[in-house]
This record gives sequence, structure tokens and C-alpha cells, in this order.
Amino acid sequence: MHTSTIQKKRNETLIGGGKERVVNQHKKGKLTARERIKVLLDKNSFEEYGVFAQHRCDNFNMDKNIITGDGVVTGVGKINGKTCFTYAQDFTVFGGSLGEMHAKKICNLMDMAAKAKAPLICINDSGGARIQEGIDSLAGYGDIFQRNVNLSGVIPQISLIMGPCAGGAVYSPALTDFIFMTCNTSFMFVTGPAVVKSVTYEQITTEKLGGASVHDKKTGIVDAVFNNDIELLTYIRKFMRFIPNSNKEVLPVLTTTDTPSRPTHALEGIIPSNPNTPYDIRHVISIIADENQFTEIQQNFATNIVIGFAHMNGTTVGIVANQPNSLAGCLDINASRKAARFIRFCDAFNIPIVTLVDVPGFLPGTNQEHNAIIKHGAKLAYAYAEATVPKITIALRKAYGGAYIAMGSKHLGGDINYALQDAEIAVMGPKGAVEIIFSKHVNDPEKLEILTKEYRKKFATPITTASRCFLDDIISSSKVRFKICYALEILKHKSISGYWKKHDNLPL
Ligand code: HXC
Repeated sequence: MHTSTIQKKRNETLIGGGKERVVNQHKKGKLTARERIKVLLDKNSFEEYGVFAQHRCDNFNMDKNIITGDGVVTGVGKINGKTCFTYAQDFTVFGGSLGEMHAKKICNLMDMAAKAKAPLICINDSGGARIQEGIDSLAGYGDIFQRNVNLSGVIPQISLIMGPCAGGAVYSPALTDFIFMTCNTSFMFVTGPAVVKSVTYEQITTEKLGGASVHDKKTGIVDAVFNNDIELLTYIRKFMRFIPNSNKEVLPVLTTTDTPSRPTHALEGIIPSNPNTPYDIRHVISIIADENQFTEIQQNFATNIVIGFAHMNGTTVGIVANQPNSLAGCLDINASRKAARFIRFCDAFNIPIVTLVDVPGFLPGTNQEHNAIIKHGAKLAYAYAEATVPKITIALRKAYGGAYIAMGSKHLGGDINYALQDAEIAVMGPKGAVEIIFSKHVNDPEKLEILTKEYRKKFATPITTASRCFLDDIISSSKVRFKICYALEILKHKSISGYWKKHDNLPL
């Protein structure tokens, strides 16, 4: 074929579904697929594959409506010099809908990413299964789901929802490691408002059913939301600094100007001595982390636990911390699920876990019990116990009951466990404990007060726990950063292996 014909076909793909549709895309506040890739990747690093793909559907006159590239731009490039595979669905071409060839391009890219051991970033903007292609579209989704599962824990998979994502299509992002969304221009649901209305007679808007804010605050399905495309794509470029290329990669160490031994005296002024006084654990994390930088995810969901990434002496770490500012930092269903999934990501990709504990226990109540806190809480214990990455845990102020065990304790394989000198580690808080033990026998409030003091004296110290070797040391708050950095260095070559199994049976 003549070079100019090939070039002409190649050029066709650059305008996607045509000028008018591109204008409409911009009017909605969205960039096109190519514009998104341009913002996401380093300048001139994009290598496109599958440019000439086209569908072979002839239903409903589709054979007269062929757009080269078939509605998805696929390829590889660099983000800050690091290889990343990416695809971006092009809403201007058949509404970004997924047909046979569109799916094949995505599957080919996923296979390449697996072989190259590099992350995959999936930009979703699609009306779902291409209706005209029927079963071929559904088959395409199935093929993608299978690959999402095959690649889970092998390479990081990150989904960006930047337009519609409806029907079964939502399950591809749901099978990936992280989901980020744009506000007002994207939505995710299994069945849209029209179907909801016809089945349940409930009237609801797209935004209220599956907009970014719903998934940010209510479902916890997204990891963060952004005002627009540029903000989201710029964030992903920074986010990738924490993310290893694959499960085989030794974690890269970034250069930092922060010294590992920088004292963290400021923690004293932040963590109140009264165990019931709230404070913001995020201040603690930022004091400890390199250059005081912490990238929190799922910030608005299950706010009683904080998760996210930081660097410690240049090494990526996953941080899990109770948040005394929200529900006193207790563990509930959502907090357990949120932290457990994060821990499993870190473990799959060799990211050490730093746990900061200040937890009064599991949240009591029928709501929690009847919604299976037993099973969901078990997920957290399970995730810690199965994780083989370095696990460093610091009890900051209190750690009671089952929550003490679940939060990265020595008993669940904590490698280096410290407590600050005023930490209380006990079956429960002094007041509740004394009520249970003595309320039937002692009515005098003064005597109860004395017994509470006695209990506190016995347990309001980490000494008892340390005396059983469940703590490796009791440390001062000024040394917290240093101790974590040093522990990470010591554990750099940690390696353990468990029993042979086909796979585990995590409590789902
Ligand atoms: C083919 C589609 C399409 C689809 C949209 N288009 N969705 N073409 N298959 N699924 C086309 C439209 O015909 C239109 O073409 C163009 O894309 C833009 O669509 P509009 O409706 O004009 O855009 P907008 O008003 O922004 O609405 C976007 C939308 C809406 C909300 C996504 O198009 C919509 O509801 N589409 C159907 C969604 C759906 O039900 N999908 C199937 C879900 S089930 P022209 O030529 O006019 O530009 C599913 C099963 C997967 O996905 C199962 C996996 C296991």
C-alpha cells in the first residue's frame, strides 16, 4: 500500500469521531482521549499500538460507519521516566463503546504490559458494550475481566473514570487496584437511573446514583476525586512515584533531602495525653514522613482509618493509621475493608507497611453486628497476618482488645513493634474494664474510682506488654521517624515463606 494511503488512515484516527463530537467533548469539560494521554505521559514518549484497528460489524449499517482505531487509543509511554502502558477510550467514536476490536486492542495492551512488567493505566470514558456488536462486545468485556484478574498482584492496574462507566463495564475498574474519578463529568453504576426507575420506581439523578461524590463518600469505591481532567492526570503523574512497576521489582529508593534521624519532638504537642481527646493523625504522619509529604487515599470514606503512601528515607511505604478525630479511631466494617485492601496491595507489590495505632476497639452496635463486622473485621486481621512485607507498628496512645491484635500486632507477624512511653495496651479501657469486673460487687463510686486508677496504673503503660516481648522497645516520640527508617533498612531483605497452598480463602 502506498505510504500516503497509510498516512491518510493514520491521520484519520487523530480526529476520532470528528470535529463536532470533539467540540461536544470539550463543551462537557472533558479532554479527548489523545489529549488525556498527552497530559498523562512525558513529552514525546507515547508509542501507539493498534492504530489501524477497525471493527468488522455489519449490523445496523455499521459497515458504512468505520472509524480507524475503533474508539480506543492504546500504547506505552513514560511517566517521569518510568514505563507505563495506557489506554484511553475515545467517547467521540461510538460513545467510546466497546466492541470486538476495541476490546482486542485493550487485551493486547494488557498482555504486553504483563510481559513488560509495567503498570497499566486505564482511562474509561464509554457508553459500555457496543450495542450493535451484541455478544462480541460482551465477550470483549469478559476477556478484559479475565486479564484484570490474571494481572492482579502482578502489575499495578489503575483506573481513571473520566466519563460514563455503566453496566457490566464497571467491573473492569472494580477488578483493578485503584480507581480515580473526575467530579461532574463521570459516573459509575451497574444500572442507570432509567432502569432503577422502571424496577424500583425510585427517581434519582445520574450524579446522585453514581457520581464521583457518591463513590468518594458513600461506597468507598474510588480512591480520590478531582475537579477536572487536568487535575486528575497531573495527580496520577505524582501518584506513580509511589507505585512499583511490578511484583518483581525491588522498590526504588528516591533521593530525599530529609535525614532519617530528624527528631520528631513535635509529636508530643500533637498527641494528647488524655486517651479520650481527639487529634488529627494526619499531622502525626506528616511529621514522620519524608519532607512531611503524605498522599492519602480514600480520604472521605471510613474516615476513622487513614491510609496512604509516603516515603521514609526515600522508600515507598504504605501507612495505615487510626484516626482519633473520627469515631474516636475505632474499627468498623468500612474501616476494616478499607485498610485490608490497601494492605493487600502493598503486600502484593513489596511495599512495607507502617502502622500507627491509637484504637479504642471495634465499634459496638447492632448495625455493625448485623452487617457482619465479624467477617469484615476478620479481613483486616487476615490482611496483616498474610502480608510478608516488612511490617512496622507503633502504638501511639492506646490499643485495646481485638483491635490491638488486628492493627499489625506482633501476634499477626509484626516485625518491629514499638510503643510510645505513655501508650496503654489492654483488653479494654480502664472504665469499661472496672465496670465489668467489679460493678456487681462494688457500689461505692469512690471505691470504683480507686479500682479504675489501679487498673490504669497496671495497664496504662506499655511495660506489661513489653515484658512479654510483644513489643520490641518503648520509644520516645522524638525518635519515631528514626526508628521507622532504621527498621526499614534492617528489614530490607526480609524474606519469609508460608505453607504451600493453591490459594488462600480470605473472608470475603
Ligand atoms: C453504541 C453508543 C453506546 C453504546 C453511546 N453510544 N453508547 N453506541 N453502543 N453502548 C453512541 C450514541 O449512539 C452516540 O452516537 C454517541 O455514542 C454519544 O452518545 P450520546 O447518547 O449522544 O451521549 P450522551 O448524551 O453524553 O450520553 C452518554 C451515555 C448514553 C449516558 C453513555 O449514550 C447512554 O446511556 N448509552 C447507553 C449506555 C448503555 O446502556 N450501555 C450498555 C450498558 S450494558 P452518535 O453517532 O449520535 O454520536 C453493558 C454491558 C456490559 O455495558 C457487560 C459486561 C459484562
